[in-house]
Amino acid sequence: TKTYLEDYAPPPVTVSHVALRFRLAPDATRVTARLTCERRGPGDMVLDGEALKTLRVALDGAKITPEIDGDRMILRETPDAFTLETEVEIAPEDNTELSGLYMSNGMYCTQCEAEGFRRITWMLDRPDVMATYEVEIESDLPVRLSNGDEVAPGHWRDPWPKPTYLFALVAGELVATSDRFVTSEGRDVALNVWVRPGDEGRTAYAMDALKRSMRWDEHVYGRAYDLSVFNIVAVDDFNMGAMENKGLNIFNSRYVLASPETATDADYANIERIVAHEYFHNWTGNRITCRDWFQLCLKEGLTVFRDQQFMQDMRSEAVQRIGDVMTLRARQFREDAGPLAHPVRPESFVAIDNFYTATVYEKGAEVIGMLRRIVGAEGYAAGCALYFERHDGEACTIEDWLACFEEACGADLGQFKLWYSQAGTPRLRARSEWADGIWRLHLSQSVPPTPGQENKAPMTIPLAFGLLAADGRELLPTRLHVMTGADDVVEIPRPERPVPSLLRGFSAPVILEDDLGDADRLVLLAHDTDPFARWESGRRLSKDRLMRHAAESTAFDAGWLDAVAAMAVSDADPAFRALALALPGEDDLAQSLHETGVVPDPDAIHATREAALAAIAGRLADDLDGLRASVATPGAYAPDAEAAGKRALAATLLRLTTRLDGGDAARAAYATADNMTDRMAAFTCRLEAGDPDAAAEFEAAWKDDRLVMDKWFMAQVAHAAPAEAVAVAERLTGHPAFDAKNPNRFRAVLGGLIAGNPAGFHAANGSGYRFVADWLVRLDRSNPQTAARMSSAFETRARWDADRQALMGEALGTMREGATSRDLREMVERMLG
Ligand code: ARG
Ligand code: ZN
Repeated sequence: TKTYLEDYAPPPVTVSHVALRFRLAPDATRVTARLTCERRGPGDMVLDGEALKTLRVALDGAKITPEIDGDRMILRETPDAFTLETEVEIAPEDNTELSGLYMSNGMYCTQCEAEGFRRITWMLDRPDVMATYEVEIESDLPVRLSNGDEVAPGHWRDPWPKPTYLFALVAGELVATSDRFVTSEGRDVALNVWVRPGDEGRTAYAMDALKRSMRWDEHVYGRAYDLSVFNIVAVDDFNMGAMENKGLNIFNSRYVLASPETATDADYANIERIVAHEYFHNWTGNRITCRDWFQLCLKEGLTVFRDQQFMQDMRSEAVQRIGDVMTLRARQFREDAGPLAHPVRPESFVAIDNFYTATVYEKGAEVIGMLRRIVGAEGYAAGCALYFERHDGEACTIEDWLACFEEACGADLGQFKLWYSQAGTPRLRARSEWADGIWRLHLSQSVPPTPGQENKAPMTIPLAFGLLAADGRELLPTRLHVMTGADDVVEIPRPERPVPSLLRGFSAPVILEDDLGDADRLVLLAHDTDPFARWESGRRLSKDRLMRHAAESTAFDAGWLDAVAAMAVSDADPAFRALALALPGEDDLAQSLHETGVVPDPDAIHATREAALAAIAGRLADDLDGLRASVATPGAYAPDAEAAGKRALAATLLRLTTRLDGGDAARAAYATADNMTDRMAAFTCRLEAGDPDAAAEFEAAWKDDRLVMDKWFMAQVAHAAPAEAVAVAERLTGHPAFDAKNPNRFRAVLGGLIAGNPAGFHAANGSGYRFVADWLVRLDRSNPQTAARMSSAFETRARWDADRQALMGEALGTMREGATSRDLREMVERMLG
């Protein structure tokens, strides 16, 4: 059954206080709940409960036999104020869905967002019911944690009203790394990062990131922490990245644990970002939460935007922005272009867990970024301040959020709001013309149809642009043009023909179709003052070459190779050079070919990228070793952005060298690597070179480290030759260390194929599709959320040739037949259309 935004109604009876007692046991945990209930309007009280053994229900102390209809308990004609007591039994050890209370390596933990609390006890499991909590945990386990402040051992009280989805409980044999933080308001906060014994040497970076996040939110948003303790717990079995439970954030261990020997620069950056993200939710999500799940982007889009701002401040603004745009295009543009496209604020769903998507998160963040650009930094600060003041303690909507900006900034956001309701990536066409001393930019926009939305209205598109002279001088610094109509013209008097630098900073999440020629792009690549636009012009040059090569085998021209080589040896920041040398990915090329009317061929695309790497390697051959030496990072490993940028460039150069020497340099680099970043770079090059000893050597050294072994599993699939990728993945699912019940391990192998090896996944004989479909059907029985999420592998079906489309359709049919959860079924049905 579907839930619709327009059907929202507040609950007639609400719960203001929740007292919980847990008697923990793996197979039979007793949960006693005492709910303080109050009538708010006419109607029945409908509680949610799933997979509960109900032992007792009492209303104001008197035992009752309530009406229970499946997952709902219906109480009719309740008094205006009353206490409801329930006692249930649950079995955390059998909870393989990892939603509700479950066990991971002998430790109890919870995941309640979005609708996991109902798997713990009967409750109004909806975000607009905000209650204070009191929790008692009975267990022999030494560490027993819940939300709020600990008032006695294992006894917690959370004074801040919160919805069920922010509830958390953890119990286990855990060790903490502890520190303190004094807030701007003078509150002394105990900070703990809890991990399994043996992992305590890997918590320092997460703790450091936490303290920096706390300080940053005070400085930039004026938001201070509000409890005396902040706990982070690392859990090995976790469906998502992490969870912002009040005062007790629970993390997938891969986003907490890091040491130079075991974590890569990318891992460090992810830890920094996700620790910040979950911490920032304390205000954008917890203090102010969502009225209903359709408003998910209210907290997620905003919190992603905040974590992106934080990362720009901690690292390089330019590098961070380019990386964020790459992610947006790779995940969200692809989603927006297929059958799973949905608005940033969806209007209906079967399983809300299917809407924790790139659109809600990443496009949701872009919408905040556009808003900030339109109202300006000061207007944004004023709107945020009003939002925090007016809505603290409330469960809100997008309308509430936008109203704060309309009032604080005097802006009319009526049309802007379409970004929340219209799905699909807008196309922005820009034609530039210079005549009679006037430069004109002719703009037109359109939004393609998406499922359920045939016709779209024009959007508000903030277009940041500047002008350069042919010799590279900047003629016009960045200016903002806010486009509102379907067509528009910008006019600027210029005595000479300028080179336009358009969509600076990627000021709107659109596909820009401009009419710039190679000469203009080369000027921008060499001179643009806006780093995103500079990178983008190089990207467009490369993409253009690779698309033509893949479609028509057009040879790579010397002009382009010279430009690439010039960038490689330039004095630009190494991280920027690494990004500029990175070729567009196979999936990106396939989507762009499809959009220009070419049916993409996955093997040809893979071969094109290989040919491009070989051509660039050949062009740079004499420089590669020297360049790599020039960005060496001798001395102890440090995870900072500057050193990471050097390692990224070194890895890119090693990959090129591998095309020339068959893997000799990679073997040498592997042998001398003293950190996991360099080691993985060398390892993946060895795999690409077909080095027969690479995998065994790595395994022998790291077999006892679960997070490093995830990398081993994934790399072998992602860096296999496409023709062997499915067989490698199949073989690895038979490895003794493969465990489908652990989402990280499962994603390593299956995700290594789907996202890491597109040409392998799209093997012409359909073996990749069958392999993935069969595994997802199997996984669906134990873990529907992860199975449903990964099924988006098939969202690109319409892109491919008729044979592949038929094979993907068969795989979707297999999943429709085999699906046991509404999660997977909803995804498959949306993809089948
Ligand atoms: N709120 C969490 C985070 O961003 C994600 C939780 C997702 N849970 C889910 N079942 N889909 O930061
Ligand atoms: Zn979040």
